[in-house]
Amino acid sequence: MIFVTDDGSHSLHVPELNEHYHSTHGAIQESQHIYIENGLNYLQKQTLNILEIGFGTGLNVLLTALHAGSKTIRYTTLEPYPLPDEILSKLNYPNILNANNCFTQIHTCPWEIATEIQPHFFLKKHRISLQDYYPIEPIDLIYFDAFGPTAAPDLWTQEQFQKLYNTLNPGGVLITFSAKGTVRQALTNVGFTVTKRPGPTGKTHISRAEK
Ligand SMILES: C[S@@+](CC[C@H](N)C(=O)[O-])C[C@H]1O[C@@H](n2cnc3c(N)ncnc32)[C@H](O)[C@@H]1O
Repeated sequence: MIFVTDDGSHSLHVPELNEHYHSTHGAIQESQHIYIENGLNYLQKQTLNILEIGFGTGLNVLLTALHAGSKTIRYTTLEPYPLPDEILSKLNYPNILNANNCFTQIHTCPWEIATEIQPHFFLKKHRISLQDYYPIEPIDLIYFDAFGPTAAPDLWTQEQFQKLYNTLNPGGVLITFSAKGTVRQALTNVGFTVTKRPGPTGKTHISRAEK
C-alpha cells in the first residue's frame, strides 16, 4: 500500500509484516542520508562494485545513479519479491527527482543481465533471496536495506554477515539503517569494525561496518 512520507516522497507499507519500505519521516531523505552520504560518498573510489540487499522500489539505485558523477559503478541488487508494475508506475520518485528516463531504465531493464542503464552505470537485478545468494565478484560497498531485524531475523545473522564480509574488498563498507545492538554485535563478531553514525531525521543512529 502506497503512502506519502513526511518529505512528500512515497513509500510502501506491508501490513502482514507491519513494515515500511522506508522511514515515514521521508523516504528520499532517508535513502539519501544513509546510502548516498554515508555510503557512496564516504567511499572515495572511482570504480566500484555495489551490492544491495532489497531492491524494492529501486529508490537506492535511482539515487546512486543520480549521484554517480564520473564514477564507474557495477550495481547488483537482490530482490526475491519484485513489486508489480502497477505499484512502480505510481511512485513519485521520478517526478520529485526529475529522473523519468533513469527510473524507467531501472525498471524496464531485464532481470539477471547486467545492463548499462546510463554511461558507466551497470545494473544487474537478481530475483533471489540473500540466503540463496553467493557473490562471485568482489564488492566495495553493500547497501543492507532488507526488512528490519524484528520482521526478518533470518537476514541479520552472523552467517549472512560472514558471507558478505568475505566478499568485500579490504576497506569495503556495509551500510545499514539498523543500529540495533544485536546487529552491531553480529557484524563485529564476523570481523567488521562497526561505527554508529548519526541517523536521518527521525532516527538517532545508523551503522557503518568496515572491513
Ligand atoms: C526495506 S525494503 C527495501 C527498500 C528498497 N531498497 C527501496 O529503496 O525501495 C526491503 C526489501 O527487501 C526485500 N526482501 C525480502 N526478503 C528478502 C531476502 N530474503 N533477501 C533479499 N531481499 C529481501 C523485500 O521484498 C523488500 O523489497
